[in-house]
Amino acid sequence: MKLLVLHGPNLNLLGHRDVANYGKATLQEIDARLLDSAKRHGATLESRQSNCEGELISWIQQAAFGEDKQRMAGVLLNPGAYAHTSLALADAIEDVVRQGVPVIEVHLSNVHGREPTRERLLTAKAASGVVSGLGPLSYDLGFEAVMALAREQLR
Ligand code: DQA
Repeated sequence: MKLLVLHGPNLNLLGHRDVANYGKATLQEIDARLLDSAKRHGATLESRQSNCEGELISWIQQAAFGEDKQRMAGVLLNPGAYAHTSLALADAIEDVVRQGVPVIEVHLSNVHGREPTRERLLTAKAASGVVSGLGPLSYDLGFEAVMALAREQLR
């Protein structure tokens, strides 16, 4: 089973961002944890980061509609600030979820406890589920969720 992990804008700077919201873990450390979990589950994992909305959209589309080698059993996505602004990303998620590929959205910070603009989650409306506010544990739990949903699809 192959899963896609997508990190959106500015997440390449983790480790240098506001520690109170995002903690100290770097993206490489988060990915290493996820890789460990994937190995334990006998799954493979591909992790990518982009600051570009269109690139994230194309990767999400490919997870369900791409060539065989691009297809994924599920997607774990931290959309960064695009979560609050991108209807286009939300549409892509909706189309992929409708196709039977689960998408779990994660946020390191608690987006419900920050500025009011961050409470508006356009992408979360389309996602299969959301985990927010638990630091790197958001990714770990999101990974467990996307694995469980992807397995359901195989039944
Ligand atoms: C974030 C939350 C967003 O509001 C913010 O723009 C980010 C990171 C998080 O993981 O907490 O860049 O997605």
